[in-house]
Amino acid sequence: PIKTCVLVGSLREGSYNRRLAEGLMHLPESREHEFAFADIGSLPLYSEEQDNDPPPSVVALRELVKGSDSLLFVTPEYNRSIPGVLKNALDHGSRPWGQSVWAGKPSAVIGTSIGQIGTALAQSHLRMVLAYLDVPLMDQPEAYIQWKDGLVSEDHTIAESSRDFLTGWMRAFFTFIERHQDV
Ligand code: FNR
Repeated sequence: PIKTCVLVGSLREGSYNRRLAEGLMHLPESREHEFAFADIGSLPLYSEEQDNDPPPSVVALRELVKGSDSLLFVTPEYNRSIPGVLKNALDHGSRPWGQSVWAGKPSAVIGTSIGQIGTALAQSHLRMVLAYLDVPLMDQPEAYIQWKDGLVSEDHTIAESSRDFLTGWMRAFFTFIERHQDV
């Protein structure tokens, strides 16, 4: 099975992005694979002073990412960019200098918001940061999801109107990971 670390850019109880992530993880295509959420809400605000003595939450994030084959970013858009909590996690994983845990992990970015552009600008900003971190990113298909009630039910079922599209997106992600692992 492919092990994917899932990073959700919202800490909100009942987050739509978390719901979207859970919907993707529960698709039939995902069943043979493994997923683990990164607990980015427990990380302190990054400060360079702690590079050599990181708290347990930072060690846990770094170990989870190191042990994962791939990364799935599911993020809301905050003020036309990525939420600070997600950037904070990326900063933590990138240090100490030369010991970034992100580099080389095949990844995909998706997100949902109530706004009409469905996190397009947040995803664009996130792609720039991930490119710098040497993260191989799936370019296509893109997925900018405007949240509608019932898009993903409490039992993780994706509404029929979006199921084929998101199934195709998830299949493309697994293919991207496998292609990258072969190289
Ligand atoms: C938002 N929201 C938002 N939506 C959007 O489409 N573009 C944006 O720039 C912003 N900016 C923004 C800033 C802040 C601080 C908040 C709290 C919210 C609305 C956002 O899409 C909505 O709150 C989603 O529900 C957030 O995702 P989760 O928490 O449900 O996963």
